[in-house]
Amino acid sequence: MSKFKRSLVTTALPYANGPVHIGHLAGVYIPADIYVRYLRAKGADVLFIGGSDEHGVPITIKAQKEGVTPQDIVDRYHKLIKESFKAFGISFDIYSRTSSATHYELASGFFRKLYDEGKFIEKTSLQFYDEKAGQFLADRYITGKCPHCGNEKAYGDQCEACGTSLNATDLINPVSAITGNTPQLKETKHWYLPLDQYEAWLKEWILEEHKEWKSNVYGQCKSWLDSGLQPRAVTRDLDWGVPVPLDEAKGKVLYVWFDAPIGYISATKELTPNWEKYWKDKETRLLHFIGKDNIVFHCIIFPAMLKAEGSYILPDNVPANEFLNLEGDKISTSRNWAVWLHEYLEDFKGKQDVLRYVLTANAPETKDNDFTWKDFQTRNNSELVAIYGNFVNRALVLTHKHCGGVVPERGALTDYDREVLAEIPEIIGRVEKNTETFHFREALKECMNLARLGNKYLADTEPWKLIKTDPGRVKTILNICLQIVADLTALTEPFMPFSAARLREFLNMEPLAWGRMGDAVLPAGHRINESCLLFEKIEDEEIQRQMDKLLATKKENESAAETVPPAKTNISFDEFQKMDIRIGTILTAENIAKTQKLMKLTIDTGIDKRTVVSGIAEYYTPEEVIGKQVSILINLEPKTLRGIVSQGMILMAAEPDGSLSFVSPEKTVKPGSEVR
Ligand code: MF3
Ligand code: ZN
Repeated sequence: MSKFKRSLVTTALPYANGPVHIGHLAGVYIPADIYVRYLRAKGADVLFIGGSDEHGVPITIKAQKEGVTPQDIVDRYHKLIKESFKAFGISFDIYSRTSSATHYELASGFFRKLYDEGKFIEKTSLQFYDEKAGQFLADRYITGKCPHCGNEKAYGDQCEACGTSLNATDLINPVSAITGNTPQLKETKHWYLPLDQYEAWLKEWILEEHKEWKSNVYGQCKSWLDSGLQPRAVTRDLDWGVPVPLDEAKGKVLYVWFDAPIGYISATKELTPNWEKYWKDKETRLLHFIGKDNIVFHCIIFPAMLKAEGSYILPDNVPANEFLNLEGDKISTSRNWAVWLHEYLEDFKGKQDVLRYVLTANAPETKDNDFTWKDFQTRNNSELVAIYGNFVNRALVLTHKHCGGVVPERGALTDYDREVLAEIPEIIGRVEKNTETFHFREALKECMNLARLGNKYLADTEPWKLIKTDPGRVKTILNICLQIVADLTALTEPFMPFSAARLREFLNMEPLAWGRMGDAVLPAGHRINESCLLFEKIEDEEIQRQMDKLLATKKENESAAETVPPAKTNISFDEFQKMDIRIGTILTAENIAKTQKLMKLTIDTGIDKRTVVSGIAEYYTPEEVIGKQVSILINLEPKTLRGIVSQGMILMAAEPDGSLSFVSPEKTVKPGSEVR
């Protein structure tokens, strides 16, 4: 039915500048892992590729902050990320890194081929340069206002608020992330991929040939393509990254978004000598699992690179998810607002599947979603424990109690038995259909429906009552229950592999191939093992501990945001005496056109009536300030602002968050009164 013979599944390479959190897991790694485990269970030829993204400015910024080398940073986090993915059961065939020798070779070879074939444009242009830091400011080294949505904290390569991919020179009011200075423009030469030349092809390929892509992905692509593509620089003036393989490009490296996706190819090459079969044969289905902030890079830029190179296949689908929030707030590495995977693994030992379950049941598949610890507890206690665990436990305990731990013979079936058994392939079918279309929440719901079916069957047939009167019937009922439990081991494996393995251990069975699920998979007479609870209740105290942790973070962040400036060095009384501060009364006030902050005031200083320009327009309206008494420094050198000579400065109380209020006398005083 499918034109594909094999699959290659990639997951966005996380930046090795911090640990992995629940947002990464819910958006990318859990769905990809479910999908791959499912394909493997069906016996498909599939490779699952992951790795750390070890270049890019977030890493050098972090290194500068900590006073260590970028290599120290990536070594630390690559190890942490790789180990925690493994402990969490993300079943990569390889988890590589973009600092590997294979990757350097492949990424520079890729660039060189495009260069040799004339696929780039060379351009000398003005780029932001921080004089004080002595370096060009690429990508995240620069922040400013997004020209599209007005977000004040957009980066030089992308606005995270609206997802738009940017050039640093697009930013309004750019600021250096290193020194906080306003950067200067300086000439530099770079190589650009002329995305505009690929626009028509991309429109055809995505908008016509891939209408089946998720609507969030298709929609983002459409809006970029509709607004027109620009050439994009694929090199940077940085000293951390894959060097540009050209003599004239000393001190320049490949743009991280040029080298990182090539990392998917390098990792495959490291994994198998057969890598070209996966990357160059049209019968391979390439899938990129990513978060929504990566859509433009995986749907437009990387495909244009692959197209330009010419020998590689293109993604068949790019199942991108939206974002997961935490307790109503955006997850943020810098604000430490996250549930970190390595900490979860420490705090909830042996409970990997609980998090896998909760993050899948609540996955941000079509819209942003919220993770709360309360929901985590409820889903564990009233779904995993009360439905899945409860059914399995009752079936196993009853088998030990009434059948000596051996799968009993099945007698004649009732109509109801047949109805229940007929429901199994229906459920399996729905899990398949939903998994294959990346609707993992629905698929998981259907898995739970199989456990629900088992629970209902037990409740309806009540074997614990029948045991005295009809032991033969009890055998049939338990036989059916055990078949359902056995099916659950295979059906839930992609979603909750740890419990599936424990369940197989309880049942004393080998892994059950996907295609063998259905009726009568455990033969009568098969001995099962002793079992214990598959899931345990999570108590309020454990949840409270996590909530307290978040509360502490919130407090830290608040107090960090509210620190008052440190005291300045002492001055003499004479120095203080030089300032002539008076109380004046505001006579007139008007906003200065085309500015947001400035207001023109006339003040009665007791000595004269003078004009002062003050930056208070964001906090007061002209009407409300007229008549107010304020403190004014009257012997400050006059200054021309917007063509108006300002004679003096109004003193303001500035709060840590920047808001301003007047410093006014407690009761009305005579204008010209000294402040001393
Ligand atoms: N490091 C990027 C991020 O976290 C993702 C890189 S994906 C790759 O947003 F394709 F470039 F590898
Ligand atoms: Zn924006």
